[in-house]
Amino acid sequence: MARPVIRVKDLYKIYRIGENKVRALNGVDFNIEKGEFCCIVGTSGSGKSTLLNMLAGLEKPTKGEIVIAGEHIEKKSESQLVVFRQAHVGFIFQSYNLLPNMTALENVALPLTFQGVDKKTRLKRAAAMLKMVGLAKYIKHKPGQMSGGQQQRVGIARALVVNPEIIFADEPTGNLDSNTSLEVMQLIQKIVRKRNQTLVMVTHDNYLAGFGDKVIHIRDGKILKIDDNRGHHQAVDPDGQNIEKEPPDGVEQNAEAVWQPENATQGAADMQMQGTIEEQAAVQALEGIPAEETVS
Ligand SMILES: Nc1ncnc2c1ncn2[C@@H]1O[C@H](COP(=O)(O)OP(=O)(O)OP(=O)(O)O)[C@@H](O)[C@H]1O
Ligand SMILES: [Mg+2]
Repeated sequence: MARPVIRVKDLYKIYRIGENKVRALNGVDFNIEKGEFCCIVGTSGSGKSTLLNMLAGLEKPTKGEIVIAGEHIEKKSESQLVVFRQAHVGFIFQSYNLLPNMTALENVALPLTFQGVDKKTRLKRAAAMLKMVGLAKYIKHKPGQMSGGQQQRVGIARALVVNPEIIFADEPTGNLDSNTSLEVMQLIQKIVRKRNQTLVMVTHDNYLAGFGDKVIHIRDGKILKIDDNRGHHQAVDPDGQNIEKEPPDGVEQNAEAVWQPENATQGAADMQMQGTIEEQAAVQALEGIPAEETVS
């Protein structure tokens, strides 16, 4: 049975500006299970980033509890939080946050330096991760020499290279066009499913939120409703052979989103997720994933 990896209880964040109080989070409760892809969706100013920052321990709540992997985040000091994040958490940002003077390979290898991994292993693991996101040919490129979608895939590789238990993503496709957004979403989803990682993604886009196993709708710092999509759709089949041809739930509600299966299939091919047997073996060896658990 799935068990909650994140528990949020009675969470409040109240900002005071002069005489005014902004209730950015106004009493929020939910659980996220291990291996779950949870989307937090709401309009601008609804409290999404505040919530994600709280979960990541980047800001302290005014009141309430956040338990992640059995540990109370709200009680930790700054230095304990740094250690906790390095051990458990990866981040994917809207603005990629890549270092402009480093190559894709160096950017992806960077988080491993903080874990004391030796240089040869760092570069090997970074290269394998870049292969996994379909950028084997771009390892020597600097961010300025890549498209937005490619840069975001580098950002994903960098977040995932340390194999974190939990990934937080704040509008990871916010700077991308709709087709590229879809490809990047499918890529993130495929990798975290394969590795049974927990993904918490914030978006204002109902269509993209429809990819989540669980969708938490937030408005004015409160949860409006929580949709459970499991069993209703599966955007990537369990064998990882095909990107699904059906749009996820909610696509009808978003007239602007254009679902084009040809693009999705092309995207999957472009991502080279399947790779050669040798590539797969290399990735498995580096990540210690037994062959029968991997997506081919
Ligand atoms: N540091 C701060 N000081 C004061 N008010 C803040 C602060 N950060 C956020 N807020 C307020 O809290 C509310 C929620 O903000 P938040 O950034 O969480 O929204 P959001 O859902 O992420 O919006 P967006 O989609 O625009 O990123 C807003 O009313 C915002 O003005
Ligand atoms: Mg935000």
